[in-house]
Amino acid sequence: MGINILGMGSYLPEKIMTNDDFAGFLDTNDEWIRTRTGINSRNMAGWEPVWLMGKNAALKAIEKAGISPEEIGLVIVSTVTSDFVTPSIASILQYELGIKNAAAFDLNAACSGFVYSVDTARRFLETDDNIKYALVVSAEAISRICDFTDRSTCILFGDGAAAVVLEKSDKMYSSFLNSDGSGARKLFAKNCQPAEIVKQNSDFDDGFADMPVHKLYQDGKEVYKFAVKALPTAFRAAAEKIGITSNEIDWFVPHQANVRIIETAAKNLGAPMDKFIVTLDHHGNTSSASIPLALNEAIENGTITRGQKLALVGFGAGLSYGSVILEY
Ligand code: UT7
Repeated sequence: MGINILGMGSYLPEKIMTNDDFAGFLDTNDEWIRTRTGINSRNMAGWEPVWLMGKNAALKAIEKAGISPEEIGLVIVSTVTSDFVTPSIASILQYELGIKNAAAFDLNAACSGFVYSVDTARRFLETDDNIKYALVVSAEAISRICDFTDRSTCILFGDGAAAVVLEKSDKMYSSFLNSDGSGARKLFAKNCQPAEIVKQNSDFDDGFADMPVHKLYQDGKEVYKFAVKALPTAFRAAAEKIGITSNEIDWFVPHQANVRIIETAAKNLGAPMDKFIVTLDHHGNTSSASIPLALNEAIENGTITRGQKLALVGFGAGLSYGSVILEY
């Protein structure tokens, strides 16, 4: 069983931060950021609630889908920057959007979160006849966990949200989800843990004890090496299941981390760069929101049209990775 994307919407905070803005308080410059990453600008949420960004995107998706919120039976929100430890943003949206009877939960698969959520929603749609429509929202304010003194990391990230309404369909579909936890220390932000107490007991010393709380740490070089392999691996694993090749894909919509990662992966797959949707130049890396933001923009500007075959490919902290191949 496949899925149909019935409607989609996105939301970007108003404030835009350019590379030059970073150069105002960090030892960096526009040329370095553009040539090493492909990023020119990104949106910044400030303290705008992540759930509200998600709600704004979801309202548009539901309107485009032309359904009533009451017909939605499942809400999944992917985020690593929830406003709350609990409850889930999905529960908040379920009420805020007027969705009456739906399972609702958040899913954290870092930058692979949208791919994981879409595939999870598809499995619910396949196995539960009571669920007619599923709402998947990816909402992130990564700027909130950035260390703005770390020039190699903070310049990469931006904030935003995007949402899709999905329904069952007999369209072509395949997916692949995976994780390599041996790379967990390569990209993380930790919750509160008193370092002294953790270190007093070596059984509890998880090796993260001295790292600052709630700040994103990334070993850029190591994550880069992982990403250039993960992207083609995730695509091929899903493609092989249904006997499709990269030549038959109309559009690749990869996680928007670094244009050099996308270029290397394109070469590795033998696919031309002009088949890859790239929006990181003006979105930056918005973690799990990056794939649906890129997808929605390409749909809205007419680049992606109905009937085309798409490969959505994500990779990120975990280290998680995965892909979904579907027909739009
Ligand atoms: O969404 C999660 C997945 N994340 C990713 O996919 C990110 C993967 N990693 C990357 O995209 C890249 O590794 C970065 C963009 C993070 C870094 O690019 P790089 O080409 O690997 O640079 P580097 O870390 O090797 O640094 C090269 C130099 C260093 O200076 P020295 O040691 O050669 O003197 C850095 O200190 O560039 C310096 N540098 C900067 N210079 C100016 C690092 N950041 C900056 C900066 N401005 N913002």
